[in-house]
Amino acid sequence: MNILLLGSGGRESAFAWKISQSPKCRQLFIAPGNAGTSQYGKNVNIKATDFDSIGRFATENKVDLILVGPEEPLVKGIHDFFLADEKLKHIPVIGPQQEGAQLEGSKDFSKDFMFRNNIPTAASKTFTRETLHEGFEYLSTQSLPIVLKADGLAAGKGVLICETLKEAERELISMLTEAKFGDASSKVVVEQFLTGIELSVFVMTDGQHYKVLPEAKDYKRIGEGDSGLNTGGMGSVSPVPFADAAFMKKVHDKVIVPTVNGLKKEKIPYKGFIFIGLMNCNGEPYVIEYNCRMGDPETESVMLRIESDFVDLLQGVAKGNLNEKELVISNKTAATVVCVAGGYPGEYLRNKVITGMENVHESKVFHAGTSMNGENVITTGGRVLAISTLQDNMFNALQQATADASRIYWDGIYFRKDIGFDLL
Ligand code: AMP
Ligand code: GLY
Repeated sequence: MNILLLGSGGRESAFAWKISQSPKCRQLFIAPGNAGTSQYGKNVNIKATDFDSIGRFATENKVDLILVGPEEPLVKGIHDFFLADEKLKHIPVIGPQQEGAQLEGSKDFSKDFMFRNNIPTAASKTFTRETLHEGFEYLSTQSLPIVLKADGLAAGKGVLICETLKEAERELISMLTEAKFGDASSKVVVEQFLTGIELSVFVMTDGQHYKVLPEAKDYKRIGEGDSGLNTGGMGSVSPVPFADAAFMKKVHDKVIVPTVNGLKKEKIPYKGFIFIGLMNCNGEPYVIEYNCRMGDPETESVMLRIESDFVDLLQGVAKGNLNEKELVISNKTAATVVCVAGGYPGEYLRNKVITGMENVHESKVFHAGTSMNGENVITTGGRVLAISTLQDNMFNALQQATADASRIYWDGIYFRKDIGFDLL
């Protein structure tokens, strides 16, 4: 079959690598892709949110399946766009329709969904400009720190953890009345702060059946020892040692099953991935957030652990017979170290020539923010490369990914040398 993958990051590189190994895949197109994805398929210069061009390309190139990497096209309704068009509706889109994508696109929607379906999550209330004063009252009754979340997509920046009541009030005003995060903060979820350790759980569903993919831990802070600013993700590890069988059973029974059943019960069609961001609070799982797609840089580790034919699984999602498909997971450990541009996550350096990738043999070099400039691969994004490896045990995996990251060079390269070592 011909497959079109949308997106251009490390997650899409890992998807492309995995899909390209399937005997079922005749041609893989990546729109727009990056300098690395062209190893696995043909890059197509179309933005993942340019629905008209994607539709035209899919018809002209006899695309049989579309896999959507990032959230933006899903929240903007790419799946609905295909279903509404007579010439396109036969092409399955992996990723939910707009309604299901609200699990990520609206924090208020996702909190309501959790409350309705008795899914464990932090207590919260949502406020608007009109209910600002009720917001102040609510804040005054809550313990500190307190979490403020912009309702809509805010490029990963919409969550504020406020240490004082004054700060929380000021931020609530700024979000609701001064559009701190634009339209995204026209509603704000005020949420109880949870203490614990986070992990990412991934579910693949055809709307009726589901499979639980390998879980992963993501490292969000720029600095070693989880210090400094939040980033898109500096590394990942899978499996997660504290997610043992007893904990994962709770996740399954209290979170995954009620989530999939909730979608069914509420007649929200959903074919794609559910990314559940969880907090382990003293052995109990609480949902921090849902995303309507896979995580990045978790996907880079997760794909390495999936032994089955991924295209076969995607077909199961498309056709609604995921229950008949096989998911075999390696019990080895996958680790990913992300190499970023100097200055990231602030203003960062660009257009630096990358060298040394040919010296990496034991890890995959998944490209994220790269382009070709003549013969050279250059940096174009903040997160530039994801170095991912699969090894017999966690120590070897962490050491290998870190050692391989240090084989690569460009002016300003930075990566964390402590990814995963806290789990040993
Ligand atoms: P989100 O954008 O929802 O992923 O939130 C970003 C980060 O903020 C999460 O990964 C958590 O580390 C943190 N966070 C979000 N909600 C809470 C909460 N209720 N309690 C503690 N930390 C939180
Ligand atoms: N790794 C977190 C995310 O993809 O949102």
